[in-house]
Amino acid sequence: MESLKDLAKLISDSAKQIEDSCARRGVALPALEDPATTANDVAFDDPLVKQAAGNIVAAAAQLTALVRPPTDTLQCLILGSQTAAALRVVVKGHIVEILKPHGRAGLHADEIAKQSGINSNRLARILHLLASEHILTEVSHNVFALNRVSAIMDTGKTPQAIRAAPEDKYVGTDGVAANVDFMGHLIYKAAAYLPEHLLDPANTSDSLDPPFNRVFNTTMWEYLERPENTHELRLFGLMMRGISKSLPSPANGGFDFTSLPAGSKVADVGGGVGSQSMVFARAYPHLKYVVQDRGSSSNDMHTHWNAGYPEALASGQVSFQAIDLFSEQPAKDVALFFVRLVLHNWPDDKCIAILKNLRAAAQPDTRLLILEVLLSSAVPSQSAPASLEGQGVAVKPPAPLLLNAGNQGVLLHMYDMIMMGVCMGGAQERTLDQFNALFAASGWKTERVYRQPYYVIGTSQIVAAPA
Ligand SMILES: C[S@@+](CC[C@H](N)C(=O)[O-])C[C@H]1O[C@@H](n2cnc3c(N)ncnc32)[C@H](O)[C@@H]1O
Repeated sequence: MESLKDLAKLISDSAKQIEDSCARRGVALPALEDPATTANDVAFDDPLVKQAAGNIVAAAAQLTALVRPPTDTLQCLILGSQTAAALRVVVKGHIVEILKPHGRAGLHADEIAKQSGINSNRLARILHLLASEHILTEVSHNVFALNRVSAIMDTGKTPQAIRAAPEDKYVGTDGVAANVDFMGHLIYKAAAYLPEHLLDPANTSDSLDPPFNRVFNTTMWEYLERPENTHELRLFGLMMRGISKSLPSPANGGFDFTSLPAGSKVADVGGGVGSQSMVFARAYPHLKYVVQDRGSSSNDMHTHWNAGYPEALASGQVSFQAIDLFSEQPAKDVALFFVRLVLHNWPDDKCIAILKNLRAAAQPDTRLLILEVLLSSAVPSQSAPASLEGQGVAVKPPAPLLLNAGNQGVLLHMYDMIMMGVCMGGAQERTLDQFNALFAASGWKTERVYRQPYYVIGTSQIVAAPA
């Protein structure tokens, strides 16, 4: 009975901490039925509240696993594919935009069906599932409204405007709906084949193709570059931007950009359209930024900056440079190479090749900044070398939670599975130990780690210097 009571107490103590913080700051905790607004998030804008909320998420999941019949737990997990599919119906049917004008009063399923072109009986069943998962509110029988969760999928466009230009649905949005659309299609289909793929005797080596290739007969990158898949390539870019927005800004805390002299060059290696550079360029305008990626990203990069920060392009504060991660790094005068969400796409030997190319171009005072999520173990790690103790060590979750806070951090392990599902064999999310091993093999050494605490899902920062 210990953990039942301990977990329940952790939940009630954490709830009190949230209430006390809100009362102290004079802000109201949003109701689940409140469609999200920026004002809503103010309640969570306190590290103590974030920690208490993380404890509640972890404890509630652990408590559920403890008290729910295991058959129900397993069924709910394996049938989570139904919820994922239902969620994508909501996005593809523009149901968020249909519901938005009706606020908390909601709209009858028959009317939503008429406007979305989906069979009414089937749609109502889908919406009942999502209301039971707290993704929508069922206001009265068969009348549904957006809530705090579903409202963030709003593209801000009317259903009519979307139907007039469906390919542009996610353009100019924060990418949240694009993320649901992309993850619920390519990533979801690849995941369905993981067991068959792993158990195929031809696939026992870690270096072999991912399940994605089995399903689509090609790699994800080649698939996205096919002329008939331009919509999904665009979706990928928009989805990455959505993920960026949902991550805590690395410009607040972490590597000290002000320590770099004015005019120093910062290279965003494998930077895509340079979403991360744009955040840094706004926060640290005394530096020059070069976004480096495959030549095919050049157009999208210019479109992105012309829309979001044209002055930086015009003044030359930012520029684009075509590179190949696996060839000689062309820029030799770089103060800071930063590499965000790139290494996780590659197996160790490829990461070492990328890092060696950067090392060969580095000056003695060049620094390397890696922005990636850091995995941590649910139990104490045996392997952490003593010399690394204290590096980026974060607050530990309270007992009886797991050391990695279990369900609170489960998204990081899901990202790891995505790498297994769609990237070259051996691509993965990594622990700090694993990054240190990559540095040791490529001529870098870790100087400082800014690790996200367990209650924040986001990229951590590892700063390395030439060894
Ligand atoms: C997951 S995206 C990350 C983009 C960006 N760093 C960010 O955080 O938004 C990986 C990037 O690596 C780039 N990439 C893949 N292979 C590459 C190569 N051989 N040379 C240069 N860039 C490459 C892709 O074009 C893509 O922009």
